[in-house]
Amino acid sequence: MNKPISVRALAAQALADIALSGHSLRDVADRAFPRLPDSRDRALLTALLNEGARWWPRFDAAIDQLLDKPIRRNAPVIHALLVIGLVQLEVLELPAYAAVAATVEAVRELGRPRLAGMANAVLRRWQRERETLNVALDATPSTRHAHPAWLAAAIARDWPGQAEEIMAAANQEPPLMLRVNRNRATREEVIERLTGAGLTVALHPWLADGLVLPHSTEVTRLPGFAQGDFAVQDGAAQVPADLLGLVDGQRVLDACAAPGGKACHALERANVHLVAVESEAKRVPRIRQNLERLGLRADVVTGDAGDASAWWDGKPFDRVMIDAPCSATGVIRRRPDVRLHRRDADMAALVVQQGRILAACWDLLAPGGSLLYVTCSILRSENDGVVGAFVAGRSDVMAMPLTLPVGQPTGSGWQILPGDGDLDGMYYALLRKL
Ligand SMILES: C[S@@+](CC[C@H](N)C(=O)[O-])C[C@H]1O[C@@H](n2cnc3c(N)ncnc32)[C@H](O)[C@@H]1O
Repeated sequence: MNKPISVRALAAQALADIALSGHSLRDVADRAFPRLPDSRDRALLTALLNEGARWWPRFDAAIDQLLDKPIRRNAPVIHALLVIGLVQLEVLELPAYAAVAATVEAVRELGRPRLAGMANAVLRRWQRERETLNVALDATPSTRHAHPAWLAAAIARDWPGQAEEIMAAANQEPPLMLRVNRNRATREEVIERLTGAGLTVALHPWLADGLVLPHSTEVTRLPGFAQGDFAVQDGAAQVPADLLGLVDGQRVLDACAAPGGKACHALERANVHLVAVESEAKRVPRIRQNLERLGLRADVVTGDAGDASAWWDGKPFDRVMIDAPCSATGVIRRRPDVRLHRRDADMAALVVQQGRILAACWDLLAPGGSLLYVTCSILRSENDGVVGAFVAGRSDVMAMPLTLPVGQPTGSGWQILPGDGDLDGMYYALLRKL
């Protein structure tokens, strides 16, 4: 199986796995990378997979228009290869002749020589008719912004008037944001080291620990990473540490902890006793690795935040953070495959799970303490829907007003939409226990 393979053929197999078989982009890329010894090939593979997943809903529809009969089912890898052909022409803007020739060659390499003529004809026809075809694809929000129809409709329902901007922001390349570990270095020291390594780095304008780099890079190779001077974290994910109001000596619960980004930030901020709970055992080692690299300590527990009986010692917490499992619709710009894997049918179960975790964790909070509910969702059902129903059903809770430099207030909390302040989309609600 591991015979040499061209980057386009490998990308087609990988993209078919992501878009048609439900594999995650990260897992597929991790498996494919070692098969490409050349770093330029690896860079092209990354671009083809990210842009292929990002633009799949648009080019998937385009391929159907260009064919008499869809081949998605009978030749899924060739279908994915045609999407990759359009990505090269339309998104990466590679020289057309070479892109088409290499894509057609990959059809043969993938063992489907009889489909090579068809692939050539499809890509040539796209080149001839691209203006008309693009106009047709731009006619509906779903194909215009490459979002599945259910998601485009949900965004339009929840954010009428802003839906176009939200979907367009999900298709932009995000900046790389770092969180400086203030126990190990100052932001200025990190900037000096990274600038010395030839990178462009700026202070985040309002986040106390944030740095911004215009493009992503292989972070683990940066000076200071291995020593724990900083971590990768979008600015929106750096907000919770500010909202929690942490003070030395507090008992803090991070109820949904892996891979530990927000837990580590809390520990960098104050000398608190933190319990990090995570239900997926295979994600727990990532929490420990991050704690170790950053020089931090916490009690790490594999368990269900919705049922504390197996792991809680009965001592109430002063602060609880629930970074709830959610649709991840606020972070599509960083995880383009979310749009391919999330289904409308998932939403009801997610909302039930969020409500269950919130209710269970509330019982662990000391009177006078605060619970921060966070999601990286932009859908109201997972945000104000969950929090509003909880607040309405209890007499011992007060939703605290929040104000941040970007975003907007909602019924029970605060929403940052993707692209606001160049951040990921995220929702926060701060609940005080009376
Ligand atoms: C949004 S992620 C958390 C990200 C993390 N807070 C960070 O900043 O790095 C949500 C996590 O909750 C975990 N999770 C889902 N259901 C859970 C439950 N019932 N109890 C505990 N953890 C759960 C998921 O496996 C996932 O790792």
